[in-house]
Amino acid sequence: MNKMTVKDVEVRGKRVLVRVDFNVPLDEKSGAITDDNRIRASLPTIKYLIGQGAKVILMSHLGRPKGKVVDELRLAVVAQRLSGILGQSVGVATDCIGAEVEELVASLRSGDVLLLENLRFHPEEETGDASFAQALARLGDIFVNDAFGAAHRAHASISVITSYLPSVAGFLLEKEIENLGNILENPARPFASLLGGAKISDKISMLENIMGKVDFVLIGGGMAATFLKAKSCETGLSLIETEMLDTAARLTERAEKERTCLLLPVDVVVADELSNDAKVEVVPVEKIPKDKRIVDMGPQTISHFSKELRNCKTIFWNGPVGIYEIPQFARGTQEIATLLANLGVNTVIGGGSTAEVVNEMGLADKMSFVSTGGGASLEFLGGEKLPGVEALPDKAS
Ligand code: 3PG
Ligand code: MG
Repeated sequence: MNKMTVKDVEVRGKRVLVRVDFNVPLDEKSGAITDDNRIRASLPTIKYLIGQGAKVILMSHLGRPKGKVVDELRLAVVAQRLSGILGQSVGVATDCIGAEVEELVASLRSGDVLLLENLRFHPEEETGDASFAQALARLGDIFVNDAFGAAHRAHASISVITSYLPSVAGFLLEKEIENLGNILENPARPFASLLGGAKISDKISMLENIMGKVDFVLIGGGMAATFLKAKSCETGLSLIETEMLDTAARLTERAEKERTCLLLPVDVVVADELSNDAKVEVVPVEKIPKDKRIVDMGPQTISHFSKELRNCKTIFWNGPVGIYEIPQFARGTQEIATLLANLGVNTVIGGGSTAEVVNEMGLADKMSFVSTGGGASLEFLGGEKLPGVEALPDKAS
């Protein structure tokens, strides 16, 4: 990555304002953090800054409070978790800008860590408001962007603040760009992309960009239904993106022309309802009943996909291949995750729900790289420029 990083600036004794992505999943009922990997992923930068004697001021969003204070989305729970992991106290501010926060920042000593309140409690964060960015900038001497998961947002704390402070990348941002960039530019072959999740529309630019670069595209999950429908299969009650049918047909044709092997399920698990008590059956894709919906890949598909994946040297996986949240429909996703974890090749896992699956199954350490970015990793692999990265200065040549 040719961007300036924390290593390129002197931080000792300075107020270093770090944008992190602490947008962690919370338990709906208890509000407890269910996966703290995004917090852990920021530790290299945070620990480095503490070790260098900086005053560390962290800022993040959590959820989508839409410009209002939502008590359930306060960052205190994150500060508490970070403090436990770091083994040192982490202060929490009651807001992210203003006189009170400025006073709190002025009282920091070298090595202290302070977490500002949820940036998205202010509507100006998402509109990319310049005065809001300036108010944030008053809290620091240097800005570090380590929020890869939010780098695709042109928000005040991400791409606007860089106009007001010397700005550099953190270690997580650097690692993400290097790992994801490497599979785009220099993948060991054969290279497969395994895609699942509900919708094609979320992944379309990524699919278009990666199609000419991969040897295999394997499609599972809800999005497989639209591909099957485009091939005139009966898909029963499965969710179909009708506006994507032409796109699916065009991508199928393009794959043939470019000799990219595009694989769809040959059998699927179907159910009459989306519950763990649903009655399920396995059917070939030509025989999906009109009154059922696809909920997972079938065993033949799993073995067919596994056979191809075993020969690959680089695999990018994004999106569960079945309705993973319902245990009865999680088998395909679990088998794929277990397979990838044991292949010993370059396995790169997209963020969001795919990362959550891999973390929940305790397999993250066995993958080559698990991205912390859901939308951000898709946009990056879609060849789009990420505002958060673009806004950082290049390394001096
Ligand atoms: C994410 O979880 O995708 C990032 O934190 C960005 O959040 P957003 O999709 O609400 O902008
Ligand atoms: Mg998102």
